[in-house]
Amino acid sequence: MNEFGTRYRIGIFGTSHGPCVGAKIEGCPAGSRISEALIQAELDRRSPGKGAISTPRMERDKLEIISGLRKGKATGGPIVGLVRNVDTDSSAYDAFLRVPRPGHADYPATVKYGGHHDHRGGGQFSGRMTAGLVIGGAIARQVLEKKGVSLLAQTVQIGKVVLKKDVPFSIADKFVRASAVGCADRATAEQMKEEIAKAHEERDSVGGVIKCSVIGLPVGVGEPFFGSIESLLSAMMFSIPGVKGVEFGSGFKCASMRGSAHNDQYIIRNGKTVTKTNNAGGILGGLSNGMPVEFRIAFKPTSSIARPQMSVDIVDRKPVELEIKGRHDPCIVPRAVPVVENSAAAVILDLMLQGGFA
Ligand SMILES: Cc1cc2nc3c(=O)[nH]c(=O)nc-3n(C[C@H](O)[C@H](O)[C@H](O)COP(=O)(O)O)c2cc1C
Repeated sequence: MNEFGTRYRIGIFGTSHGPCVGAKIEGCPAGSRISEALIQAELDRRSPGKGAISTPRMERDKLEIISGLRKGKATGGPIVGLVRNVDTDSSAYDAFLRVPRPGHADYPATVKYGGHHDHRGGGQFSGRMTAGLVIGGAIARQVLEKKGVSLLAQTVQIGKVVLKKDVPFSIADKFVRASAVGCADRATAEQMKEEIAKAHEERDSVGGVIKCSVIGLPVGVGEPFFGSIESLLSAMMFSIPGVKGVEFGSGFKCASMRGSAHNDQYIIRNGKTVTKTNNAGGILGGLSNGMPVEFRIAFKPTSSIARPQMSVDIVDRKPVELEIKGRHDPCIVPRAVPVVENSAAAVILDLMLQGGFA
């Protein structure tokens, strides 16, 4: 199942240490103005090489569009975009077929595919696969922008460091893009960097939380039952490697609230029906209600850590101490910010096309 979507469909292909990774996109309306430079800008945000906070693997991730765009516009045919894998070192990975890394996909994948899968660099389970999601999403968001819909993902927690300020949407984007960790507040971003560097020094890793907001959605986007905004956005978010939790609006906190506190009361503001609060996260009955769609995604700490860990040799069935050599992100979160933002755009465009809004 490497395809996602109904009217706007993204199929991802490639593996981490194969020739390339990329996406085939179907359903982009013909004539949509699509800038390759803007796709490249999103890929650049995702690419590694940001000092101590990301993997030392150096990939330029230069976009190649094979089909579907001509003279800056979508042709209506499938769009195929890819980036080549250049800086690959697969030497560490054979060992994981016998001695799986705790927390990574090695063990279930080896059992499922009988060891025939391309395991190099994590293969199909690598975070590198998300380059295809970024390509597909960066195209979708350009179509959405024309419809007045914008998205912003930002890092709100790394390890124990939590962003306490609510930076307004209108200015946050600029700061998030300029920040190495994707956080809109400079002082908090510094603490987050230190948190990652400290974990790295201790041959360990940290997780975190990304918040994503979608603004400008018309009322009524979403296709209940199974095409509710929550169903499809969470399915997309849980497809991103390393994601362990997704919550909308008040999320799990709603369980301890009373209805009187949780209900978002309606008011008229500037002639529009809006709500005073947004515990619903902009979604009621699976449909957008005109308020910002807001959700939070929890990422686990990167599983590949340099510290010795216990595993087993699955052939000899004996315990083995494992020291992981490959190159890894000490924290997934900073590089996942554009992945969340762009992949969410693909889901929203799909639902807008399904509902006749685009
Ligand atoms: C952008 C990105 C980069 C990642 N980098 C790494 C990495 O360097 N090392 C690692 O072990 N996992 C990394 N991951 C996470 C693994 O791919 C993921 O944990 C693994 O496939 C198992 O899947 P699961 O955590 O969803 O169960 C990354 C994920 C993303 C989204």
